[in-house]
Formats: sequence, C-alpha cells, structure tokens
Amino acid sequence: MRLIIVSNRLPFTVVEKEGELYFKESVGGLASSLRAYTDYLKTSGETDYLWVGWPEIALDDESLKEKLKSKAFSEFHAYPVFFSEKTMEKFYHGFCNRTLWPLFHYFPSYAIYDEDYWQHYRLVNEAFRDAITEIAGPNDMIWVHDYHLLLLPRLIREEMPENPVGFFLHTPFPSYEIFRLLPGKWRKELLEGLLGADLIGFHTHDYTEYFLRCVLRILGYDHEMGEFIGEGRIVKADTFPMGIDFRRFYHSMRNPEVKREKAKVKRTLTDSKVILSVDRLDYTKGILNRLQAYEMFLDCNPQWHKKVILVLVVVPSRTGVEHYQQMKRQIDEIVGGINGRFSSLDWTPILYQYTSLPFHSLAAHYSVSDVALITPLRDGMNLIAKEYVATRKDGRGVLILSEMAGASQELGEAITINPNNKEEIAEALKQALEMPREEQVRRIQIMQRRLEQYDVVRWGEDFLSHLLSVKEAQNRFDAKIIGPDIREQLIRDYEKAKRRAIFLDYDGTLVPLAWHAEWAKPGDETLSLIKSLSQDPKTEVVLISGRDKNTLQKWFGGLSIDLVAEHGAWIREKNEDWKLIRPLSAEWKSQLLPMLKRYADRVPGSFVEVKDFSVAWHYRRSEPGLASIRAKELTDDLIHFAANVDIQVLQGSKVVEVGSGGVNKGAAAMHLISKGTFDFILAVGDDWTDEDLFKALPETAYSIRVGLTSSHAKFNLHDHTEVIQLLEQLTKTIEYRKRRFPWLTRVFGKRSPNSL
Ligand code: UDP
Ligand code: G6P
Repeated sequence: MRLIIVSNRLPFTVVEKEGELYFKESVGGLASSLRAYTDYLKTSGETDYLWVGWPEIALDDESLKEKLKSKAFSEFHAYPVFFSEKTMEKFYHGFCNRTLWPLFHYFPSYAIYDEDYWQHYRLVNEAFRDAITEIAGPNDMIWVHDYHLLLLPRLIREEMPENPVGFFLHTPFPSYEIFRLLPGKWRKELLEGLLGADLIGFHTHDYTEYFLRCVLRILGYDHEMGEFIGEGRIVKADTFPMGIDFRRFYHSMRNPEVKREKAKVKRTLTDSKVILSVDRLDYTKGILNRLQAYEMFLDCNPQWHKKVILVLVVVPSRTGVEHYQQMKRQIDEIVGGINGRFSSLDWTPILYQYTSLPFHSLAAHYSVSDVALITPLRDGMNLIAKEYVATRKDGRGVLILSEMAGASQELGEAITINPNNKEEIAEALKQALEMPREEQVRRIQIMQRRLEQYDVVRWGEDFLSHLLSVKEAQNRFDAKIIGPDIREQLIRDYEKAKRRAIFLDYDGTLVPLAWHAEWAKPGDETLSLIKSLSQDPKTEVVLISGRDKNTLQKWFGGLSIDLVAEHGAWIREKNEDWKLIRPLSAEWKSQLLPMLKRYADRVPGSFVEVKDFSVAWHYRRSEPGLASIRAKELTDDLIHFAANVDIQVLQGSKVVEVGSGGVNKGAAAMHLISKGTFDFILAVGDDWTDEDLFKALPETAYSIRVGLTSSHAKFNLHDHTEVIQLLEQLTKTIEYRKRRFPWLTRVFGKRSPNSL
C-alpha cells in the first residue's frame, strides 16, 4: 500500500533563473511537519509515499516542466501539479487566503465572498482530483491536507470509491456562527466535499466539535462519538494534535552547523536576556499586540533597559494579499517607533529580521533565547511553540503562549496569556525573565515529555491507523447490510417456515420519523401491507412500539395482529383486549413529571408525553445542540432518581423516556414467542429501544436494525423504504404462490375474514 499525500504546498518551492530551476524548502507548519513525517517514512522504508502539490511556479516551457517533475520525483518523492498564475491568483490569493483563511481564523471582516474565486477553488480541486486519479492505484491510501482542498475528498471518492481517503485540517475549524457566514451553497458543498473522506482530523477537540456541529446544522447528520453516517457511509471526525520531530530539535546541538550558528548568534546578542518572536507574517499571529506589549513592558520596567533584546523574526508570506502588505507596513512602523524611543548607543531593544531562517539558524535562535513570546490571535496549532520547548535540552527557557493557539491545550506549563490583553503579556514577560531556574526546568521538562511521546511520527501513524480502522468498520457494516444473497435466504426461510413471527417497530421503521407524532399516521399503503402480511395464517404480525395503547388501537385496532404499546407495558393479542404484561405501578410518575416539565420549559420545542406507565421528554423539534446537552443532563438526573425506584431510563431517537423497570420490547416479544413454536422470526426496528428486542431473540432469528449504526441486530437496512421493499417482497411471495396454486386462495379465504 502506498501513501499519497496531497497538499496545496509541496515541501519545496521552485524558482527559475535563466533557464535553471532552484528548489528551496517551503515555510509553514504543514510543510515542515509533513516533511519530518515523510523523512521518517523514507528512512524506515516501511511505506512508500508520493507527495502531490503545487511547486509555486507557473511554467510554459514543457522541457522545464519535465525537468522539474523528474527532479521532484527522484529527490522528493513528489508529483507537482501546475497552474497558471491567473488561476493561482484567484484560488490561492483569492478563495483560500481572502475567504477561508480569514474566516477560519475569526477575521470575518477580512473575508471576501467572490463567485469567481469560488469557481477557481472548484477548478483547482478538480485539477488535483485529475492528478490523483492519474497516479493512484487501487491500493493506495490518500491523505488530503488543509483548507485549500476541502472539496477534494469527495471528488476522489467519486472516482475511486474503494481507496481509503483521510483529511487533516491544519487550521482551526471555526464555530458554526462563523462557518455559516459562507454563502449557503458554498458551505454545504465544502462540508459535503470533506465528507468524501473516511476520517477527518483536527488539531484540537474544540475544532472537531465545531465541525460536527456544522455537519449537524447544515447537513443534518448527528454523530455518536464523532462517528456519523454521511450519504450511507460511516465517516469519522477525530482529534490528532500534530506533533513535531522532537528528537531533531532536542538533539540539535549535536549538529555542528547549529553549534556554529549558536555561537554566532550569541556574539551578536552580547549578554542581554533574549526574547524570541518567530512567525510567518500573518495578521493571525498577533505580532502587533506583541510589539505593543513589549513597549509597555519597557515602559513599566526601566530596570530591564539595556538588559533585554527582542529578536523579531518575521517570515515573508502571501505577499500578494493586501492585508499581509498592510501588516508588513504596520510592523515596520511600530518597530521603528519602539527602537526610536528606547535605543541608545549600546542598545537596540528590537532586532528585526524580515526573512525565513533555515533549520540550523532557527534551532540556534531557540537555544539562545531565554523567553519565546508567541501570541497569536488564532492559530490552528503553532509548531514554533513546540519546537522551542523541544530544543531546550538544558531545561532552560520560558514559553509565553497565547491561549488562542491550538498548542496551548498541550502546553499547559507555559505562561498562558490572552493575546488581546497587552498588560497581561507585559506582566508575563517580567515573570518569565525573572523565573527561577528550577521552575523553568520543571516546566520545560514536563512539556518535553509530552512532546516526545506524541511526536510527528506518532501523529502520522495514529491518523493512518485510525483511517484503516474506519475502513474496517465500513466493511463490517457493508457485510451486515442486507444484500441479494441474504435477502434470498431470508425469503427462502420465510417460505418454508411452518410458523412465523414478525415483530415490527413502527416509527422510523415502517414510516419516516415525523416532526409531529400525529403526522406519522399510517397511510393506506402501510396498512394494506401489514394486512397482507397478517393474512397468511402461518404468520403472526406483532406491531411493537413505544407509542401509547390508544394511538395504536386507533390506527391498527382493526387489523388482525398483535399490538405492543409503551415498549412492552401493554399487550393486545389478536382478538383479545389490552392487558398489562404484569402488574405495574405508576406512582412514581407524579414525582417525575415536574422534573421533565422543567426540561420542556428550558428547551424550546420540546414537550412531555404522559402515557399510562411511562413518561417521555421529546426534543425532535428543538435546536439539536442545546437539546442533546439537556438530554444528557436529564438522563443523569433521572438515573439518580431511578436509584430508589423501580424504573428505567430509555434513550430513544430524540426522546428520553422513563418506564417501569424490566419492561422492554425484549420481554414483551419473549412473552408472545413463548406461546408457540416459531421456526421463522423476523424483527425490524430503528431505535435503541429495539436493541432489547434484538438481544432477547433466539440465535436463529433474523433481526434488522434500520439505519447504519452498530447494533445487536444481525443485519442492517439503510432506511424505512428498504424495510417496506423487503416486506412487500414477502407478501408478493405469497401472492405469487396463490396465483400458481389457486387452492391456497381457498385456504386463505376460509381462514381469514379479510381474504383476497
Ligand atoms: N519555520 C522555519 N523558518 C522560519 C520560521 C519558521 O523553518 O524562519 C518553520 C518552523 O520550524 C515551523 C513552521 O515554520 O515548523 C511554522 O509552523 P507554525 O505551525 O508555527 O505556523 P504556520 O506558519 O504553519 O502558521
Ligand atoms: C499554514 C497553513 C498551511 C500553509 C502554511 C504556509 O500553516 O495551514 O497550509 O502551507 O500556513 O502558508 P503558505 O500560504 O505559504 O502555504
């Protein structure tokens, strides 16, 4: 199996000078961390890989293109995808960095919504799809990265449905309130694009939660532990905080080039304490706030004048986008202002470099810096913070880190600041510069242990092994979905059976789940289907529901079938009256009702249903996020209550129900089954309450859970329409036989009052 990594940016960018191509390392977290992971793949030799991406150069000359391709492949295992400058202007500077980047980093006022950009975004994603379908084989695993390629997973899936496809987002995923700012068609298409992946990874739990919420609100798919069914497939969203090449930074002093560079940097910095600031030039990085906070620190702490230097490394980035150009001017201005105010003959408070540092120089800077000052306003992860900590093998150094960086969730021993609070940053600087050595060592070492354990290799392996597990789960599911072979077998067993029992749940099984309970009233077709099934004297049809007995009586009372109401509390056997399954008490109901009503008041759209021996809080019509939190709270409250009373709490589909202990569909079904000898049992249901039924049935029974979810049932069907189809097939079998063997009709005619 080969791994195909796909990202907009390749690990290198290419420039051309007088017909010669020059390759240089790309900057940014995605390139540097994936490069570290692929370096591992190369040396371990376990997995072959190919990295597909954009080399940042537009070439018309075919021979140069070929040259680039061949070097990319032989030296970097890379496959470049070329685009014209115009396309990249609209895709990369346009939709990616003028729409998605500002939105995903909570800068909605910077976001531009331009149809032409959007069309180019689709176009480039399609071009990536074409490149992948050209090179990928049937066994290749495809791993798509970052916000540039949100549509790609689905495009790949359409062409290569069997290949495992993973997606990882390197930026934050914003809250629903921000994501919904995207025009409706775009936001839907973007999410659907992502859902083409089997596994979708995020840096933090919050981003995963925000994504799942957008999926629920925009596409209507609810999840369970991050897993949901999107267009008939299991898709999983999960958290994988990206690590770094820990050992490379930790042991960087073994590298003579780093050592030499360290000595050089130290000479420039004399004996001053060093505060380090390194980022790509990006408005999300909070560089202005940082400079203002440093100025405030100098204002408030004259004792530190001439004793401290801020080394400010700003890496050029996305220079074609106006907000980046503007930021550059602002940084220049503010640095000039601070240096102008405080500099003396022998001291410049800020040493400013507008450049990108190669590894050895970056590691040297990390190793000489007493403090790393990292204050992004928003950052998906921030690897600089992790790299700084990893480099400090001597245990010295203090990390000041914004709580808005994904990394702050793992680096709790840093001094955490809010980047909008300059006073807080200024105070943190003082605290950091004055922190006792033992305290520095204590904090750094704890963080190092964590970074060492989940380094970039663990991160990559963790993601890919999860991807394969999702694929396995999908296969297990596919095997449980009733296909032609199982269907045929079921029909054969049905036909040859002497006595059959068919248990059918109603809502969600025979009809779709309805917004209002009354809207689910059975139509003529449903009624005649149940009637046809029940007309065969060998078949007992049991409608087994959580509904109250009056509704069942009203809707199905005229049919010659058994009815089970309130999940098994009430049973009406054919031609008999309603009976309780056993003596039940409902005294507890009055104690519980106020609690349930309180929840109905708190959650708009929810309501309480009172039945004879159960009460239910329904929240299908409520805002799903709030309602599901309240449902958990309510369940918790009820479980406490249940400790002293003989009741049980059932979690249904958008309903929390309380009923008498020991009453469930399984017990009711067994009560009915014990009355005869059945050699064919079929049970179909869509809800958690049907699980009791599936569990109770004998091993030989056909049990079917409607919907793709894990279950005790042996098989699954996608939805109620497939249940109807299956049942119709069963009734047609009888009709067919009746047509072929007319005497059968006579038999039915004699035995059934509703003969054909
Ligand atoms: N980096 C670099 N040279 C520099 C500055 C940064 O190689 O002069 C690398 C750094 O090692 C880190 C990455 O760029 O791995 C920056 O990643 P981060 O997650 O901090 O920010 P991003 O640029 O991805 O937003
Ligand atoms: C962030 C993004 C990456 C991107 C990097 C550098 O880390 O998540 O996808 O590669 O910034 O930005 P650039 O625009 O130069 O690729």
